[in-house]
Amino acid sequence: MLSNTKHKWWQSTVFYEIYIASFQDGNGDGVGDFKGLTSRLDYLQDLGVNGLWITPFYPSPKVDNGYDVSDYFNVDPDFGSLADFDHFIEQAHERGIKVIIDIVLNHVSTEHAWFREALVNPESKYRDYFFFQDKSNGWESFFGGSAWQKEPVGIQVYYHKFSPEQADLNWQNRAVRDDMLTVLKFWLDRGVDGFRFDVINFLSCNGIGEENLSDADGRQIHSHDIDQPGIYDCLSDICAYVRDYSERAGKDCFLVGEVGHEELAKLAPYQSDDLLDVVFNFNLGSITHFDIGNVHAQLVAMEDQLSGLPTIFFNSHDMARSISRLCHDNVEHAAALAALTLTAKGVSFLYFGEEIGMPNFIPVSVSEIQDIQAKNHYQLAITDGKTRHQAYDIALEECRDKSRLYMQWNSDEFSGFSTATPWIGKKAPENLPNVDEQIGDSDSLLQWYKNLIVLRRDNMALNFGNYDALSLEQGLLSFSRSWQNQIVHTLINFSDVQQPINHNSSYEVMASKGFNLCEPNYLLPYGTLIIREVRDVC
Ligand code: GLC
Repeated sequence: MLSNTKHKWWQSTVFYEIYIASFQDGNGDGVGDFKGLTSRLDYLQDLGVNGLWITPFYPSPKVDNGYDVSDYFNVDPDFGSLADFDHFIEQAHERGIKVIIDIVLNHVSTEHAWFREALVNPESKYRDYFFFQDKSNGWESFFGGSAWQKEPVGIQVYYHKFSPEQADLNWQNRAVRDDMLTVLKFWLDRGVDGFRFDVINFLSCNGIGEENLSDADGRQIHSHDIDQPGIYDCLSDICAYVRDYSERAGKDCFLVGEVGHEELAKLAPYQSDDLLDVVFNFNLGSITHFDIGNVHAQLVAMEDQLSGLPTIFFNSHDMARSISRLCHDNVEHAAALAALTLTAKGVSFLYFGEEIGMPNFIPVSVSEIQDIQAKNHYQLAITDGKTRHQAYDIALEECRDKSRLYMQWNSDEFSGFSTATPWIGKKAPENLPNVDEQIGDSDSLLQWYKNLIVLRRDNMALNFGNYDALSLEQGLLSFSRSWQNQIVHTLINFSDVQQPINHNSSYEVMASKGFNLCEPNYLLPYGTLIIREVRDVC
């Protein structure tokens, strides 16, 4: 049940994640930017999404594509200027589109002034913004290898949960918290509608403690470096700051957290009235293969265990694209997944390109790989004695470039990123789906997404309704959600054989695929039927 009966704007918002470097190049330098993004707002409005999540755009050496911020108060010149940002916000708001921005609080780039000062002047207050020690412990980086790096000149080592160029902040130091609240204020003042907090449960609120445990295969379990004691207090301060600001400004900000867990029991505590509005439900979103039994079980578990709304998504910049990962590149299956994403209970998040069925992008050689995580794993594998071929396979497993190819607007070479080499370095494979070929085609995946998004936004039952029923039978997932006198029934056939259904012909068909009114008792493989029942209210 929703804990708060007052509805918030984000409950009826369909969010769309923009990986800024890959969305639209506005100045022909091969990198997506705010000018380009602003020029595509009409497309986004037409698609129907009314919330955008923008990945980090702050000045950065881009070792981890912007998740290594060197200045929190500006826009990286590759992405434009503060004036471009302000114009973008104004234009998005004019179209009724809210904007949340990604904010990285766990670590800063080693090019950030705080870290540079900490290095050159060990007596400065900034030394205590980070973790410098004489000796490392055994904690491992999430990108592989040790989480400790020797400082370039001195004799100590510093702590980095991700790459050595991303130094972790010491959240025990009150000054770090105060400085980061100033960052949030800066962007709230510029009109953002909320934040996506990057790896928020990773904040080091309890310093460097015991060694992490290992599992039966000897792999490190992050038992002491994440979810540290004090994290809820720390996060509640951050959230309270944003909520106080919002209240004073007469607006309502949305806070979504990336909590690094795939287990619902670990994700759930981060979502409450004092903490995050919602967390990303990786228990569902990052499944590695499609098993409708598991999907159903996760939907039920989220209903039982979360104190607010779940999030529903199957794509992001950190995972392989769902059409390749979960649907064997089958467009019908992708359409069924879209129906689930946009009609199930929860806040829907789409990722750019999923609406046209963009598949994985596979770098064909190591030199084509951009992702730092994949590059690290390649090096570690080579150091471990693997052949180049084996190391490349290992790197590909980890490679997040799969979902970061530039948006396929048309079939032109480089799709509008044309006058220079795109940041991702390579020309896209030919015959990828693109927007131009799907626009105006009533059978296209794009049109299906548009239909679903309109349904989602226009029907209160799909925004606010709880489940009256949620069941799975022979691959047929069905659920009903009601609001006042309206009940919306969704049936999705996640199997590759047709499934019998009980269709009551007095109900209005709101959207369908693989369903024929002349044979209303069957749903074709991967078909969807969304119908509305109107009840009399006494
Ligand atoms: C988050 C981001 C990911 C980044 C990491 C380190 O998981 O989504 O892209 O590499 O944080 O900042």
